[in-house]
Amino acid sequence: MTVRVGILISGGGSNMVTLARSMTGVHPARPCVVVSNNPDAGGLDRARNMGLPAVAVDHRSYGKDRAAFEAALSEAIEPYGADILCLAGFMRVLTGDFVGKWQGRMLNIHPSLLPKYRGLDTHARAIAAGDREAGCTVHEVTPALDDGPILGQGRVPVLPGDTPDDLAARVLKVEHRLYPAVLRRFAAGDRRPVILRQT
Ligand code: GAR
Repeated sequence: MTVRVGILISGGGSNMVTLARSMTGVHPARPCVVVSNNPDAGGLDRARNMGLPAVAVDHRSYGKDRAAFEAALSEAIEPYGADILCLAGFMRVLTGDFVGKWQGRMLNIHPSLLPKYRGLDTHARAIAAGDREAGCTVHEVTPALDDGPILGQGRVPVLPGDTPDDLAARVLKVEHRLYPAVLRRFAAGDRRPVILRQT
């Protein structure tokens, strides 16, 4: 049986594109819908250009009512029958209620080597700390922010003189290798972590 994957984005959606492209041929999963909380997200058009349904649920319409936003999000996803959700640059914090409904079936990619640097500005923080190595993590989503069982990590060097943008670009390249590799395993029921070495 094919596993159906919904992808949640907020921005350009480069991780979404690599995930969607990876799900072809002999692969346990297929993308079923792309949803963004930001109607202007560039990733929505990129999804449509790949022939995927792409839906915006603007969180601003719901003000501080996270439950109402998440109800609308669930309603948008529901018709597509997703088995797994991949957060791919989705920049809203989800409540315990929503996370609970998807527990064990929702993945996130975070641009740091968790447990280091949960939250925002991960690259600036790694540089400020003098770290020699940075990277990204794919993990199962649990109610605590950027927490949950680690399903894979990819590492890159921090080079002398790196700006946060330099480092972000280097990490993003590894994200594009890591997330598809983790999803392929996860969709096949294999939760052993994927460890990508520096290339
Ligand atoms: C990626 O670097 C992802 O790791 C990060 O946002 C970027 C999205 O890029 N996610 C987070 O910071 C989540 N807290 P993309 O839209 O090109 O995939």
